[in-house]
Amino acid sequence: MRRFEGRVCVVTGAARGIGEAIAARLAAEGGRVAAWDVSERRLLPAVAALQAQGLDVQPFVCDVADRAAVAAAMATVEAHFGAPVAVLVNNAVWARFAPLADTDEAMVDRTLAVGLKGMMWTLQAAAPQMRRLGGGAVVNLSSTSAARPVTQAIAYAALKAGVLGLTRAAAVELAADRIRVNAVSPGMVGTEASKAQFDAPTLATREAAMPLGRFGAPADIAGAVAFLASGDGAYVSGAELVVDGGWTTSSL
Ligand SMILES: NC(=O)c1ccc[n+]([C@@H]2O[C@H](COP(=O)([O-])OP(=O)(O)OC[C@H]3O[C@@H](n4cnc5c(N)ncnc54)[C@H](O)[C@@H]3O)[C@@H](O)[C@H]2O)c1
Repeated sequence: MRRFEGRVCVVTGAARGIGEAIAARLAAEGGRVAAWDVSERRLLPAVAALQAQGLDVQPFVCDVADRAAVAAAMATVEAHFGAPVAVLVNNAVWARFAPLADTDEAMVDRTLAVGLKGMMWTLQAAAPQMRRLGGGAVVNLSSTSAARPVTQAIAYAALKAGVLGLTRAAAVELAADRIRVNAVSPGMVGTEASKAQFDAPTLATREAAMPLGRFGAPADIAGAVAFLASGDGAYVSGAELVVDGGWTTSSL
């Protein structure tokens, strides 16, 4: 399938994990991908590895919490590829997990600045480009934690519930411009960042409890994002697609 042939796609937080897998998937289907990340150290080798596979991926170092930097980077993406942005995937996250008593202001501020305000800034910068194209698709990464939180995740659960509200509000407002906005909510995905939250025995117990018998892989999430971002999702907007291997549906 080449569902993104020639389309300019922006993926935030693309230096590793799920974002890297999304960038790879969109590019493998013909997309011209701007891979954004705040960490140049991680982004450059990740993008070089994708380019070595023949994929059209370019690195953009950008802190999505910085509204002016986001506006400048979005303009640079259009200038670089010579076409407006058609697909935006808001994946970047800054997440820390702590008990309520240890949840301080700096932690909450950074969590929301990157994960929620960052989505507003990228949307604000990309929407005019999509409008000029006659439409576009936005996919925001939420989490099953929005509805079914794990413990010690107050700031993160608030962030991800906020992402769902933002997604629905943006879908309503931007529909007239033929811009679709949807959310993907992964369950437990075996990325470096998510595995670091637990010790090995806890991880093994949790993985065994997954109805499909395994954690999700970044590619599982990338497939769902690609569906929503592509023409196959042409009549889907304001939706949340839960991709958790049946975890949050199970009563076990
Ligand atoms: N891994 C999971 O199990 C899981 C579960 C549910 C939801 N999610 C969501 O999926 C997304 C990706 O998760 P992941 O596990 O791959 O995360 P990750 O921590 O591995 O990667 C996040 C990336 O975002 C980048 N980033 C951080 N702050 C940034 C900023 N200010 N500007 C630009 N980039 C920034 C990081 O450098 C990193 O490369 C996140 O939104 C996360 O909340 C993940």
